[in-house]
Amino acid sequence: MLSSVIRVQLLPLLLVTFAILESAVSVKHENFKTCDQSGFCKRNRAFADHVTASGSSWASPYTVLPNTVKIKNGFVTGTILKSLGDGQPSIHLPLSIHFQEPGVARITIDEAQRQKGDIELRHGSPARKERYTEVDKWVLVGQSESDPGMKGEFSQKETIVSYGPGNGYKAIIRHSPFSVDFVRDDQVQIKFNGNGMMNLEHWRPKVEKEKKGSEEAKEGEEIKEEPKEVSTGEHGEDESTWWEESFGENTDSKPKGPESVAMDITFPAYEHVYGIPGHAGPLALKETRLYNSDVFEYEMDSPMTLYGAIPLMYAHRKQSSVGVFWMNAAETWIDIEKQKQSSNPLSLGIGAKTDTKTHWISENGLIDIFVFLGPEPKDIIQQYSARTGNTQLPQEFSIGYHQCRWNYVTDEDVKDVDNKMTRHHIPYDVIWLDIEYTDGKKYFTWDEHTFPDPLGMQKQLDASQRKLVAIIDPHIKNEANYPVVEALKSQDLGIHNKDNNLYEGWCWPGSSYWIDCFNPAARKWWDSLFTYQSFKGTASNLFLWNDMNEPSVFNGPETTMPKDNLHHGNWEHRDIHNLNGLTFHNATYEAMLKRDHPAKRPFVLTRSYYSGSQRVGAMWTGDNQASWSHLQASIPMILSMNIAGFPFAGADVGGFFGNPSKELLTRWYQAGAFYPFFRGHAHIDTRRREPYLIGDPYTQIITQALRLRYQLLPAWYTAFHTASTSGYPIVRPHYYVHPSDEAGFGLDDQFYLADTGLLIKPVVTEGATTVDIYLPPSSTYYDYFTFKPYTGGGTVTIPAPLDTIPLLMQAGHIIPRKDRPRRSSGLMRWDPYTLLITLDEHGNAEGELYIDDGESFDYRDGAFIHRRFTFSAGRELRSSNFASGIDVQGSGKKAKEYAKRMSGVGVEKVIIVNAPRTWEGRGTVVVQEEGGRRRGGQRCSFSAGRRGEARIGRW
Ligand SMILES: *[C@@H]1O[C@H](CO)[C@@H](O)[C@H](O)[C@H]1NC(C)=O
Repeated sequence: MLSSVIRVQLLPLLLVTFAILESAVSVKHENFKTCDQSGFCKRNRAFADHVTASGSSWASPYTVLPNTVKIKNGFVTGTILKSLGDGQPSIHLPLSIHFQEPGVARITIDEAQRQKGDIELRHGSPARKERYTEVDKWVLVGQSESDPGMKGEFSQKETIVSYGPGNGYKAIIRHSPFSVDFVRDDQVQIKFNGNGMMNLEHWRPKVEKEKKGSEEAKEGEEIKEEPKEVSTGEHGEDESTWWEESFGENTDSKPKGPESVAMDITFPAYEHVYGIPGHAGPLALKETRLYNSDVFEYEMDSPMTLYGAIPLMYAHRKQSSVGVFWMNAAETWIDIEKQKQSSNPLSLGIGAKTDTKTHWISENGLIDIFVFLGPEPKDIIQQYSARTGNTQLPQEFSIGYHQCRWNYVTDEDVKDVDNKMTRHHIPYDVIWLDIEYTDGKKYFTWDEHTFPDPLGMQKQLDASQRKLVAIIDPHIKNEANYPVVEALKSQDLGIHNKDNNLYEGWCWPGSSYWIDCFNPAARKWWDSLFTYQSFKGTASNLFLWNDMNEPSVFNGPETTMPKDNLHHGNWEHRDIHNLNGLTFHNATYEAMLKRDHPAKRPFVLTRSYYSGSQRVGAMWTGDNQASWSHLQASIPMILSMNIAGFPFAGADVGGFFGNPSKELLTRWYQAGAFYPFFRGHAHIDTRRREPYLIGDPYTQIITQALRLRYQLLPAWYTAFHTASTSGYPIVRPHYYVHPSDEAGFGLDDQFYLADTGLLIKPVVTEGATTVDIYLPPSSTYYDYFTFKPYTGGGTVTIPAPLDTIPLLMQAGHIIPRKDRPRRSSGLMRWDPYTLLITLDEHGNAEGELYIDDGESFDYRDGAFIHRRFTFSAGRELRSSNFASGIDVQGSGKKAKEYAKRMSGVGVEKVIIVNAPRTWEGRGTVVVQEEGGRRRGGQRCSFSAGRRGEARIGRW
């Protein structure tokens, strides 16, 4: 195994290889900014370089004014002064640190002058003058009660706060210069501004200097470089990007001037950092940019931005995890540097030799950071999710298999694929329609030549309880006599340009407008478009797909909107860019919620996302390529989403661009069967690749992978339920499951399915016949298919010919599944269960099963069954009500009805792996039910292979 340090060194080599293999398709780098081309990033890096070069002679200009410090009700508040030197008045920055239960801190820093609106905007801009303060309105949903035990001690020099469990955490707020150390277990875990790179660019009027560079530069198009005669501002800063910036054809008018915020955050003695999904790279992080955009044909292992952003970062070492959540929706860069410790007194005795230093830079907005002190990865995700919301409990169909392509071209085509999947006994739940179903890319319409009978098509699907998903994007075609665009224009529901007129740009339909989902009136209007009367030709088995919501604008800077565009409330697009996708996704979710009476759980897939998007649907990793490297990359990308609170994630199976070989496609299905969101998708220029077209043995092998997914649906659905109540990941990387096993911290190519003990290592290389799986010490694993045992504490090699998915089971687990193959998940509803039990060395095992109707919200009224299974001392299997569930079961009317409906569904089979030797031969199973005792007299046989099978009756 490679540790992440070695991996970092290997990467340049790998990149070269990819470049040769995949030179046919590649991202257009020149369309996306580098840090050097993003003024605020360049300025802050230059500032950091200046700080580093100054060494110990550098003093951060930020100090807390001691007499402003107040400690009250869980808050420390005060004013930070930013000193400008040269006798200029200092800048006032209001500071608030909120200590919340259970041991979470939130640091917020604003700027007084902008907060009061006491500034002037240039070019007569109608934009808001404040820093954007409404990120939390979209992102936060829960828990922020003050920590009642929090205590603060103030001195001139510093304020020391104790808080958290047993008041065991400390925040040491140094006043001059301002810095904060977060301490747990008597060790500094996280330092803010420890390196003095904090920066908040205060408002200043533009001082007109002699006009030289900038005016001329505008004329000469080929002039790309910065004018040379730049004056230098504070700390030698480069002012040339303060007031105006050009990129490609676009000039950003920047009416508010420079307003970036930056902070250095150090994790002493932490070598590994994880999180920050929204880029294609390894799980363990390197430099990263977050600016949601439509990156055409993205490349591997790149810090380049992708479609979404979740600024949650974990730092991890043996037995300790901590995390920060940088809640800012503007363009953000994060530099990550691992530094060998020379002698760090802060971490003596921990044994780690490396610090991780991070530098966070956002174009504008507040400094607003949550601090989580763990100590386990699951504590961080639980506390983060308690604030930003748990993932939606999805409809059960949506965790089945999705068959998509751009495009199924007619309603007859859809029906034909549906028939063929049935004929080939290939299970699937959903078939998808990309943009071509519409009449000329006008959403909420059907092309009447190719889709003359959409309802007939949905009816056929419904006969197998299958569903249809149709795409609806946020760009609305600018065409006469299209009622949707007429409403958008006449009611002014679109995003505006910098002059406050409706913004027009180009996307799939050509000239388009964009719905502004920050506008409550626009959201209300959006609701009305999804009713059955309004969106004609739709039935209740139609669900939604939101694409292009970064938003993608073909003729915009970096394929998105100009930053000086205006949203509802006159916020600039710059302020909210990374939230835009979430607001559109949310609006579609809310509209679908209102479509059916009683409401059903909406299913909406999104491409763009931010923290909080997990509440309203699933995401996929966007437009990947049919290559082994993209298959490989999908796994860390999906794991990264999972530890960042948005577990309902998948990658296009088969690869969107290009034609996969049969082997690649087959391996991709085998991997995809373990993506939380499992969809095959393909570009319009690719050959058709529905599983039945591939030919045997591939079709058979793919069908087996799909059936495995359906067999394990009860375990998947239970995992989704856990995620929806705790925030815990559905697929989990090694370090998360075994936080003390250092040997596995760099692993991102094998993972666990929730609490089931199932360990998967998809094959992601061509021609493989075996794979190496790393197993943690003192554990035993069994092959899922052959029950062959493997002992932990190192790497084992297991057979993986094309027809085999490397899948192991950790001893000590009970896995619920359904063994009867069906056409769709809906048709499996009344099927009996099988329990697959792997006993540990003491003859014990446990597991759980959550079930409900899989579509309505009745589970909130107790209409669910949640069982805990325990097998103890090699003799007794028990099924009991889950202790931690809300015990409403059996109380309400809906709960009773549901229990009655489910009374005929039971366990038909129990398989025991590693059964006691004494069981060999024949025996009898005694089934005991609540209350009475019943001797079932069921016979069972136990083979010498130490595996037992018993068929029994009901629960
Ligand atoms: C969607 O956004 C609205 C408006 O901010 C909010 O009230 C609602 O709770 C969000 N919905 C979900 C499911 O998060």
